[in-house]
Amino acid sequence: QPLTYVIDEMISAKSIAARVEALAREISDHFADTDKLVVVGLLRGSFVFIADLVRELDLPVEVDFIEASSYGDGMESTREVRILKDLRSGIEGRDVLVVEDIVDTGFTLKHVTGMLRARKPARLEVCALLDKPSRREADIRATWTGFEIPDEFVVGYGIDYAQRNRNLPHIGKVRFTRP
Ligand code: PRP
Ligand code: MN
Ligand code: MG
Repeated sequence: QPLTYVIDEMISAKSIAARVEALAREISDHFADTDKLVVVGLLRGSFVFIADLVRELDLPVEVDFIEASSYGDGMESTREVRILKDLRSGIEGRDVLVVEDIVDTGFTLKHVTGMLRARKPARLEVCALLDKPSRREADIRATWTGFEIPDEFVVGYGIDYAQRNRNLPHIGKVRFTRP
């Protein structure tokens, strides 16, 4: 029997937009003296968030991407982070902001920030839209977090369940139903 599910709204598109604006203000203040900020999105989940965030930043920015994957189509982290695509540019001596959609176990962010720190950026900070602190296994924290959420499986605003629902404009939680 196939698993069917419905999506209940958890964070509206309007509250996300307001929070993104506030985060962008804090980040712009923090990096106010930069000559150029390298904004690094973690594909695929961060593509919506980074698009909205960079348009609110009052800074010269460069946009680059890393593709990392640890969930595949499942609901459970494999705890093994695969880098499928690396940055185009070197970041030694540069200011870097990593943009992530959600920090769950923390393995993805830990792996990626470790890899980037080894390249000796001048400054490296992280902005994550969502944080599920109750699920953390790796010792890592984002510099800026949009929303702390309870342990629910969420989708939308870039986040998928088995590669679906990334195009939802809000954040919703998945609720399974018996067909
Ligand atoms: C998801 C999500 C984060 C990561 C968070 O990515 O987008 O990158 O998992 O989980 P963690 O803190 O437990 O590591 P996923 O591996 O599903 O790839 P995707 O972004 O392409 O969906
Ligand atoms: Mn991801
Ligand atoms: Mg995913």
